[in-house]
Amino acid sequence: MDKHHVENRRMYDRLGRDYAEKRKSESQSFWNDQVELPGVSQLLTPHLKGSTFLDLACGPGLRTKYWQEKVENYFASDFCYSLLSIAKEDHNMLGKWIQADAENLPYKSKTFDLVLSSLLLHYFQDLNPIFKEVSRIIKPGGSFVFSFHHPFDEILSHAPSDKFPVILRNYHDEKSYQWGMLNMSFTSFHHKIETIVNTINNNGFFLDELVEPRPAPESKSINEKAFAYTNRFPSFMAIKATKRS
Ligand SMILES: C[S@@+](CC[C@H](N)C(=O)[O-])C[C@H]1O[C@@H](n2cnc3c(N)ncnc32)[C@H](O)[C@@H]1O
Repeated sequence: MDKHHVENRRMYDRLGRDYAEKRKSESQSFWNDQVELPGVSQLLTPHLKGSTFLDLACGPGLRTKYWQEKVENYFASDFCYSLLSIAKEDHNMLGKWIQADAENLPYKSKTFDLVLSSLLLHYFQDLNPIFKEVSRIIKPGGSFVFSFHHPFDEILSHAPSDKFPVILRNYHDEKSYQWGMLNMSFTSFHHKIETIVNTINNNGFFLDELVEPRPAPESKSINEKAFAYTNRFPSFMAIKATKRS
């Protein structure tokens, strides 16, 4: 694992329960629950029934029940021990949870119909190893659905004093950037859309569907500020990449 992964894992390990609690607050979890989840659900829903499904980087398992009810076999992995412990404690499904780095997964080749990774890919500087690994464990014709920080969002500055964000970075420079959560600073990597599409195509997949999710009108009362923001600026992108047969 490179030094950024080790550092990010250390921080997720420290955040543990605080992160899980934050995500349980409806208003604070607006981005995850009202924007990201509808995006990946839209891509996954037609394929869930009867599937063998991997929730890659499942975090504290906040989505476990949601996915488990819809699929045939639910598996989950994350590299962070403290988040995985919360997930296991809350769901008690021994044998299905594995602590593993997403670039080196202990599953047999061609195991899964669907692999989901919600908000994971921006942690990787080089996207090829993780795509190669997911391509290995997924069945031909199966799909890898993933969401990540929208490449446009990654080049904006979100200073709290700004009414609207301002463009801060050069879109063409695929550099790292820092972002904060619960007083901790995480390192992520900006990728151009061109890089993402080429990585999909170069690792045995084709780009099947892409969404830039926006919240549903009914979610406005949950967090009016976040609702207005996410209807103006794209926060996430979600893609379904299907494994070529
Ligand atoms: C923003 S959280 C998302 C959690 C979950 N997917 C969700 O949407 O509720 C990112 C997760 O990615 C995990 N993660 C980051 N880098 C990873 C890596 N290299 N291998 C496995 N998990 C990783 C973190 O431990 C954390 O649980």
